[in-house]
Amino acid sequence: MKSETFNINLVNVGKSITAAAGDTLFKALHDANIFIPTVCGGKGFCGKCKVKVFSGNKSSLTDSEKKKLSSDEVAEGWRMSCQAVVESDMDIELPDDTKNVRLYTAEVIALGMVCRETRRVRLRLLAPAEMEYLPGAFILLDIPPAAGSRLALSRAYSIATPPSSVNEIELNVKHVPEGKGSGFVHDVLKPGDKVTFSAPYSGYPRSSDENELICVAGGSGISPVLSILRHLKETESRRKIKFFFGVRTCDDLQYISELRTLEKSMHAFEFFSVVEFPGENTSKDTIAGRVTDAVIRSVEDASGCSAYLCGSQGLLEACRTILLERGISEDDIFYDQFF
Ligand code: FES
Repeated sequence: MKSETFNINLVNVGKSITAAAGDTLFKALHDANIFIPTVCGGKGFCGKCKVKVFSGNKSSLTDSEKKKLSSDEVAEGWRMSCQAVVESDMDIELPDDTKNVRLYTAEVIALGMVCRETRRVRLRLLAPAEMEYLPGAFILLDIPPAAGSRLALSRAYSIATPPSSVNEIELNVKHVPEGKGSGFVHDVLKPGDKVTFSAPYSGYPRSSDENELICVAGGSGISPVLSILRHLKETESRRKIKFFFGVRTCDDLQYISELRTLEKSMHAFEFFSVVEFPGENTSKDTIAGRVTDAVIRSVEDASGCSAYLCGSQGLLEACRTILLERGISEDDIFYDQFF
C-alpha cells in the first residue's frame, strides 16, 4: 500500500519537497538532499537541526526540544527537525547559515597522528575547488558503508584551518572505540583517497569583535579553537585572548609548539595547557589539574568578555556556570558540544 505523502514548502529557498507521513522533517530534508546541520546524527541530542515551521506544525514538542529550544524559539515556531514529525502539508524556513551548504569532493593529501589517539587529515577540495567558511565551522564527512552493510553515515568534524584556506582544510579526528567515523578515518583512509562531505556548517560569527575572548577546549575540541586563533593571527587581531586547553594525560597534548609560538607572536594571547593526570614527564609550562580549576584561578572577572567553549556537555556546563558567576552575559557564550 502506498503511504500518504505531504508537501513541504521551503519558503526561503523557493522549493518544495515531498515527505512520507510519519517521517521526521530531518529525514525528509535529508532524503531530498537538503543539508541540515547535525552533530548527533538525528538522535535529538545536539539541537543543531532547527527549522522554523510556519504551518502544519502538528506533532507535539518532544522532551529533547523542551531541553534544547528556548521559550523565544518555541514561540517563534522553531522545531528540531529530527523531532518534528510530518503529519500534514508544511511551510518551513531553513536557517540562513544553511543556505551555503553544499556537497564537496576532496582528496586526502596528508595524514598523521598529532597525539596518541588523534589523526590529522588534510583534504584538498576538488569540486567545488574552494569553500567559504567561518572560523570554527564544521563539515559532515560521508562515511561509506562498512563491508556487509548498506548503511552510509555522516560524521561531524570541525575544521582546524582558518577561513583563508579556501582550497585545503584540516581535521583532527580522535579514535573512538567501535566508532564508525573515526574507524574509517584511522583505519581506512590513505593519501590519494577521495572523500565527500557537506559543508560549511555553523562557525564562530564574532571573530571580528574586539572584547576579550575566553576559549576553553577539551581534547579534540581544539580544532575549532585552532581555526579561530589562526584566523585572529592572520587578521592581526589586537583582541585579548585566553585559551584553556584541557586533556587527561600528556600523551593527549597536541599543537602545543604552534600555540606557544602564537602566544609569543600575537598581541595579547595567553595559552594554558592543563593536564588532569600529568605523570612524571610534565613540562614546566603545563598546569596539573582540571581545566575548570584553571579557569577559576585565571579568570577573575568575565564581564564584557565573550567565550567559545568546545568539549563534552559536562565541560561546557561547568565552564558556563563559572563564567556566568564571573559576570559574562549568557548571550556572549558560544558552544560547540561533542556527542
Ligand atoms: S540532529 Fe541533533 S538534535 Fe536533531
